[in-house]
Amino acid sequence: MNKISPYEEFARRNLEISDREKQTVDAVAAHGKMTARQRIEFLFDEGTFQEVDRFVTHRCTDFGMGNKKIPGDTVIAGNGLINGRLVHAYAQDFSALGGSFSEENTKKIYKILDKAMQLGTPYIGLNDSGGARIQEGVCGLAGVAELFFKNTQASGLIPQISAIMGPCAGGASYSPALTDFIIMVEGQSHMFVTGPEVIKAVTHEEVSMEELGGAHAHHRQSGVSHLVAGNDRECIVLIRELLDYIPSNNMEESPLKKCFDDPQRREPLLNDFIPNDSRSSYDMKSLIRAVVDEGSFFEIQGAYAANLVIGFARLNGKSVGIVANQPAYLAGALDTNASRKGARFVRFCDAFNMPLITFVDVPGFLPGKDQELSGIIRDGAKLLYAYCEATVPKISVITRKAYGGAYCVMSSKHIRGDYNFAYPGAEIAVMGSEAAINIIYRKQLTRQPDDTFKNQKLEEYRERFANPYFAASHGYIDEIIMPEDTRWRLVSALERLKTKVAKNPLKKHGNMPL
Ligand code: HXC
Repeated sequence: MNKISPYEEFARRNLEISDREKQTVDAVAAHGKMTARQRIEFLFDEGTFQEVDRFVTHRCTDFGMGNKKIPGDTVIAGNGLINGRLVHAYAQDFSALGGSFSEENTKKIYKILDKAMQLGTPYIGLNDSGGARIQEGVCGLAGVAELFFKNTQASGLIPQISAIMGPCAGGASYSPALTDFIIMVEGQSHMFVTGPEVIKAVTHEEVSMEELGGAHAHHRQSGVSHLVAGNDRECIVLIRELLDYIPSNNMEESPLKKCFDDPQRREPLLNDFIPNDSRSSYDMKSLIRAVVDEGSFFEIQGAYAANLVIGFARLNGKSVGIVANQPAYLAGALDTNASRKGARFVRFCDAFNMPLITFVDVPGFLPGKDQELSGIIRDGAKLLYAYCEATVPKISVITRKAYGGAYCVMSSKHIRGDYNFAYPGAEIAVMGSEAAINIIYRKQLTRQPDDTFKNQKLEEYRERFANPYFAASHGYIDEIIMPEDTRWRLVSALERLKTKVAKNPLKKHGNMPL
């Protein structure tokens, strides 16, 4: 009998894997998807991906699993370069056993996560799975639970990004939820803890997969998804773009990009951009785009809590985190969703040494019973906590209104703002003039309901507070700047803050109002 050589055996086993993968290409493409292998190859710089654990198989024999062993056990894992930087990633292969998490394939995943932590590289998961492998019982759960533990250990050490490119069901959705960014694919990805059938059985509620856990549901309503892509390719391009803004780990700075936009550029049009009438709105994103390096604004969670804009951008090639009130939506007031959205982003930037640039135009926290009973006190405190705790360079520009508690929260001088700028039209006060006069002169206004007295008091109040000079006279605003100068002011402030050292008291951890 001709025994085949070890090399032939090696070639045979590899061929078996690539044959099986090739056989799935058409079926997967019929669903408009890429295979796990195609996704991995497209994610990394060409030819740089190095796979690990290609021959891992599961050990389950229950429910006929003994003869359903697939080399790699439905996950491709390894490392490679993305725009020249080392990154670890895995991709689940839904075409085999629904890409389910087994005891063995989760070991593959957290093996690369451990390596990513040890080497200080970003970690990316391309998820497409029916969740914990049902046939394995507690062993499948064990694998996923251990992954939760590792995700938590890695949080704040290395950036973790999750793409949801198919189903992400059950408790397994908590692994992406523990990572920093979630990207979903329209019409193709679904994330839920309990699916439509379970919901129907338990609550008799009928809901489609798309309504419950589709990309738009999670991008617009729940805020779980940070970005949405039209298809697999777009999703992977977004991951690569996002990575370009952020450092590889918490000890490094973001990659510095060559800047083709004049750092000294003045933008005279901005002087007339903000309406004189403080009740008129304008689009804060246009202002941001005019100030940062051309084309560099990368918005996160754009369709969720649109009253607060967050995203990354570059100033003279340096990556920064942008937080900005959006007067064009809910007048820029802070509500529960906006506060949570902002808090998480501020914490990400702080964890990864990314300076925070805050554009302020905020009438206050959103009033209303619904807001109070939804916990605006607790959620607003999250944003406050995040800003107070942040030790990265913090620069703010008050473009117009900065009222009340919302003024304090938005990177004010009192919570360690490094440079606080304001435009000449800024209004910094405890509240708007009308509300203020109604409170402090309530008795007089009841006795003298004519407009003359009220108008006189309104005028007095506006003169005192509807400008930045009162705050500047106390040193709470460092400089009043013309809007056209915003860009170069920010660029030079960042340059001056390069050597900033700030620390929080040593403790196990704080007790953020979660
Ligand atoms: C084993 C699974 C699986 C799973 C899917 N498959 N999910 N196998 N374990 N969790 C298999 C199917 O048996 C099928 O195998 C193949 O994958 C494709 O599945 P279909 O159902 O035919 O595909 P589709 O119609 O597209 O539906 C996909 C799906 C559905 C929505 C994901 O399969 C589904 O609802 N799966 C269960 C999802 C779920 O509730 N998971 C929760 C697990 S609990 P064949 O051989 O027929 O091709 C969990 C908790 C973790 O994850 C908590 C840890 C602490």
